[in-house]
Amino acid sequence: MNILVSGAAGFIGSRVMKALAEKGFNVIGIDNINDYYDVRLKYARLEQCGIDTKEACWESNIVESRMLPQCKFIRMDIGDCETMNRLFRRYHFDKVVNLAAQAGVRYSISNPYSYMRSNLDGFLNLLECCRHNGVKHLVFASSSSVYGMNSKVPFSEDDKTDTPVSLYAASKKSNELMAHCYSKLYGFRTVGLRYFTVYGPWGRPDMAPMLFAKAIMNGDPIKVFNHGDMLRDFTYIDDIVDGTVRIVMSESQETELGVPYNIYNIGCSQPIKLMDFITELETSLGRKADKQYVGMQPGDVYQTYADVSKLAKVTGYSPKTRLHDGIAKFCEWYRNVYLQLPELPEEARQQ
Ligand SMILES: NC(=O)c1ccc[n+]([C@@H]2O[C@H](COP(=O)([O-])OP(=O)(O)OC[C@H]3O[C@@H](n4cnc5c(N)ncnc54)[C@H](O)[C@@H]3O)[C@@H](O)[C@H]2O)c1
Repeated sequence: MNILVSGAAGFIGSRVMKALAEKGFNVIGIDNINDYYDVRLKYARLEQCGIDTKEACWESNIVESRMLPQCKFIRMDIGDCETMNRLFRRYHFDKVVNLAAQAGVRYSISNPYSYMRSNLDGFLNLLECCRHNGVKHLVFASSSSVYGMNSKVPFSEDDKTDTPVSLYAASKKSNELMAHCYSKLYGFRTVGLRYFTVYGPWGRPDMAPMLFAKAIMNGDPIKVFNHGDMLRDFTYIDDIVDGTVRIVMSESQETELGVPYNIYNIGCSQPIKLMDFITELETSLGRKADKQYVGMQPGDVYQTYADVSKLAKVTGYSPKTRLHDGIAKFCEWYRNVYLQLPELPEEARQQ
């Protein structure tokens, strides 16, 4: 079975690509390796999958993993319609997993246009390529942010999601609507996964765990939004990968009003107080944070809390990692791997 994973140099995508290749599927990973954050991290994640940095930096170069014989990587942009068409014609994908996106809630306040190319144009390209190339199953990343101003907890897939509070959230909700439309019109299965605040080793430098860890280690102040009065359903990366792979492998024929389209929450289902999260980080890093209490940020929500019973029913998903253990693993990686990442080779720096 041939599977395309987009966003393969990303936090979640790199792990999903590796997990699927280890299960014996033929996996092609693609990513444009943009510089939204430290590209050393993106190349290092690819290296974890056996993809050589010097080879991966060249656009359209097909790089075979030296660790996983069924895994290849190509640097390309999902917004590039012609290259995407060529890729789909060549590899005859059975399934597609879209984890490429311009992520980040706060960045969408200052950089709204960067969300359109990847999250809307790029997603439309994927839908069109699936439609014209016989793809049976498209799994794509949505987000807990689609719940916007919803205040009923836990968040259930049946709750209203038409009050987004950031353009990022609006782009994710748009993906859900676009996917529904393509499933209805062309009959292929689409599944949207609403991820809840993912953390762990190889995480994103723009997210709270990395921002806080960096500041704590450097003795810089951290901004504690809404004066610490916030709750997040922090979900460890291994649980996210497990849930995603279960959905990719699932042959469930569930439909919604006869349309082969489904939405699932993937979270831990245990909202954590922001202050408790910071305390865990302080304990694992062995240092106190210099906390600056500030108001709510535009685009943020007070609480996220996933009801995961729908995913559990269909796939047996059951998140396993407790915050204490997950934070300990994250901090160990942060100190021993992230802070020691080498400079990029000349080839990758020139790209
Ligand atoms: N990490 C979280 O907590 C979280 C929560 C909710 C939803 N999500 C969603 O899950 C998906 C993966 O998130 P992540 O945390 O791994 O983010 P990430 O930024 O680490 O990964 C996304 C990858 O996509 C690539 N990319 C972006 N635009 C592209 C394009 N046009 N063409 C090709 N590649 C492109 C980036 O280079 C990056 O490597 C995203 O859709 C994100 O919105 C993540």
